[in-house]
Amino acid sequence: VPKKIAVIPGDGIGREVIPAAVSMLRRAAPGALEFTEFDWGAERYLRGGLAMPAGGIETLGRDFDAILLGAVGDPRVPSNAHAAEILLGIRFKLDLFANVRPVKPLHDRLCPLKNLAASDIDFVVVRENTEGPYAGVGGNFKRDTANEVAIELDLNTRHGVERVMRYAFELARARRGCLLMADKSNAMPHGHGLWQRTFAAVRSEYPEVAAEHMYIDALAYQLVRDPRAFDVIVTNNLFGDIITDLAAALQGGLGMAASANLHPGRTGMFEPVHGSAPAIAGRNQANPIGAILSGALMLGDLGFAAAARRVEAAVQRALEENHVTADIGGTLGTIECAGWIEAGIETSADEQEHATEKN
Ligand code: NAD
Ligand code: IPM
Ligand code: MN
Repeated sequence: VPKKIAVIPGDGIGREVIPAAVSMLRRAAPGALEFTEFDWGAERYLRGGLAMPAGGIETLGRDFDAILLGAVGDPRVPSNAHAAEILLGIRFKLDLFANVRPVKPLHDRLCPLKNLAASDIDFVVVRENTEGPYAGVGGNFKRDTANEVAIELDLNTRHGVERVMRYAFELARARRGCLLMADKSNAMPHGHGLWQRTFAAVRSEYPEVAAEHMYIDALAYQLVRDPRAFDVIVTNNLFGDIITDLAAALQGGLGMAASANLHPGRTGMFEPVHGSAPAIAGRNQANPIGAILSGALMLGDLGFAAAARRVEAAVQRALEENHVTADIGGTLGTIECAGWIEAGIETSADEQEHATEKN
């Protein structure tokens, strides 16, 4: 039975990079996936005032094995209301508490740091994905007056902090055994004190993991100065958002970065880290690799590890031969780059079958 994939291209370049990723997935895992496209996004919102039908997200969680999302955000919706409804709606309603964002440059020339090779950088950011200031708790008082008060509460729960930390420790144990927790407990003792205390409790259950702590500002510094030592980084929703754009720069830019929104055992959501990039939308300029690699993360999560590796290998080859878009130094358009990578998957698949036959 094919796995059911809900596809939400969304807005802007999401509508260019997601078709590329879907086409790639069809090639990488023939017959294994069945795609259903949803038109949720700004167009629909501007037409009818609703970004999606009522109960839409619950349907995704119930009837699909995974969700592939492009990006949401449109200058015609300055409040970003539809994007919050779709993107944050999926993360919150499906309780996808771990936003997993791997950081690994796939070619030396993608790494902007002097004297570092691509192989020097290989870490994963695990970002808490359901709490913090994103929870929407707050309000405005005396709005639009000189005395206006605006509150955006940083919500941290014991349950929420503990589960994402445990997820990160498990991941660290399966990787190189190093975990770094980053917070701002020196200035935010209530919420981030909870992160500290939870960290102390959970790390005692994982004596085999080398666990360290940094304040988030020091981590930002270290990520640029020398990111070689990092393996798994766990942090809160807002800090995780910020450092993963920074980390995207370490792997060639936002066009390259992939992510998974997970709650083990449930329908996950896979999306590139970048947004809808309105300035380049509709011009066949967007780098499709972040979306393609998000598709590879999805394949891996659904149990198609070999297909995921075939996609990564094809991307790697496109980088080696510079069949890529302008943001990473190539000359191809979105469609041409994706087409080249996709054609490369066939070759890798053939080679692999050939190798299997020989063994
Ligand atoms: P952005 O990621 O869309 O763009 C930042 C910069 O990176 C721009 O210069 C853009 O041209 C470039 N860029 C991004 N993706 C690229 C790609 N694939 N290829 C080449 N260049 C790429 O961030 P932004 O400009 O802050 O946000 C634009 C809109 O997207 C906003 O509405 C924002 O809220 C939304 N957004 C959505 C998501 C999401 O849906 N997951 C994520 C981030 C931002
Ligand atoms: C991301 C985005 C979103 C976030 C925005 C669009 C709400 O920046 O997925 O990284 O902050 O989580
Ligand atoms: Mn972001």
